Amino acid sequence: MRKPFIAGNWKMNMTHLEAIKFIGDVEYKYENKNDCEVCVCPPFTALRSVKNIIDSNALDIKLGAQNMYYEEAGAFTGEISPLMLKSIGVDYVIVGHSERREIFKETNKIVNKKVKAVFVIGLKPIMCIGESLSIRESGNAEDFVLGQLVECLSGIEEKDIINLTLAYEPIWAIGTGKTATSKDANDMCSAIRGKLENLFGKDISEEIRIQYGGSVKPFNISELMSMTDIDGALVGGASLKVDDFIAIVNY
Ligand code: 13P
Repeated sequence: MRKPFIAGNWKMNMTHLEAIKFIGDVEYKYENKNDCEVCVCPPFTALRSVKNIIDSNALDIKLGAQNMYYEEAGAFTGEISPLMLKSIGVDYVIVGHSERREIFKETNKIVNKKVKAVFVIGLKPIMCIGESLSIRESGNAEDFVLGQLVECLSGIEEKDIINLTLAYEPIWAIGTGKTATSKDANDMCSAIRGKLENLFGKDISEEIRIQYGGSVKPFNISELMSMTDIDGALVGGASLKVDDFIAIVNY
């Protein structure tokens, strides 16, 4: 039985003081009637402050980072290592978000190195895959997304894979207000699960959680969550509004 998993990706939003206020407001209104796993992913500069508030209020919310570098330490100016994240109490790391792929030119090879590094240090990756509008319109979306999946998971050991979360985020639905229909989103998530079964066997494929991301809002979350192969959501814009985020958690 896969536990529903709702994560908020704050992207490059909120100073650390704004983040402290925000998570305090979440704490004040928080309920989680579906018993989801819930995670917030603030920018690096707010991670520790948010963690302090989560801990001091015994809030059942996990902490995620939005990115990291795959090396342990050294001359990599401007980068953050897996150990640095682990040592401040991070649980999850988003890897391969389409904004990192598009703007910062991250390839599947780089994403693969990051996923491996996340596992080596004992954190859990939320690995994003998804197609652009032109790929969707060309009819090759499934091949493209499954190709990303295979390359990004190359060489991942079976003992680790169970701790993977996937996020299917069609790029054309991110920040645009255009959600994939629940059926289209679920069809892709089913295809992803089918490929996981080929790669790792049925038992493992049934355990791995697949989130949908792309204009998830309070009004569309419950239909998305009713689909067979959608186990949660990676929420951008709506995770920056306390009431919307709590409404999504309580879909
Ligand atoms: P929006 O929910 O703002 O479309 O963002 C989705 C996303 O990119 C989450 O990682």
